[in-house]
Amino acid sequence: MVWHGGVVSRDDRADRLGHSGCTIWFTGYSGSGKSTVAVALEKQLHSISRHSYRLDGDNVRHGLNGDLGFSESDRCENLRRIGEVSVLMADAGLIVLCSFISPLRAQRDSVRALHESSGLPFYEVHVDVPLAVAEGRDPKGLYKKARSGEITDFTGIHQEYEAPEKPDLVVNTQAVTPEESARNVLDFLVSKKIFK
Ligand code: ADX
Repeated sequence: MVWHGGVVSRDDRADRLGHSGCTIWFTGYSGSGKSTVAVALEKQLHSISRHSYRLDGDNVRHGLNGDLGFSESDRCENLRRIGEVSVLMADAGLIVLCSFISPLRAQRDSVRALHESSGLPFYEVHVDVPLAVAEGRDPKGLYKKARSGEITDFTGIHQEYEAPEKPDLVVNTQAVTPEESARNVLDFLVSKKIFK
């Protein structure tokens, strides 16, 4: 197969939209606040006429990745597909907000490498709360089920979470509101000159 190029460039699309495409990758425990911060950020971006789209583990697993579970190989495939989708969306010019536990460094590094090989910015944001805090929140009751053995392969209980060593940004959802965390990510994007 041979790549079939078009005549509308990435720069053309960025000029039209007023910003470059990129991927913001939120990683952290279930219950850390990844999706909540992404939702708040999406609202803030929308209010300043920036075009973003959220990809979220809980949502994507209903459709595109509905055939996958939580074994290590299924999680790798989940994240490989999301990596490919986020590259397409970022290439289309969107600010892509990805919220996935993505527990292993190698998984996140693969998605970063995919973006870098496509010349697209990828920013890893660690939603950094201790396991005990995420478990204390337990918004979906999943930690309780994991502790009782009703569900298996749960991140932090049966499977390891490898925290990022050099995230592009850390947000702490214990100390500040989701809106403030989102504002910090927005300020970070401004510093990266994503907006025209
Ligand atoms: S990832 O590890 O492959 O990145 P992903 O972010 O897509 O995970 O999905 C995590 C979501 O699936 C959690 O927020 C939780 O609601 C749900 N879930 C169900 N079972 C598990 C499990 N065994 N481990 C982690 N999350 C689970």
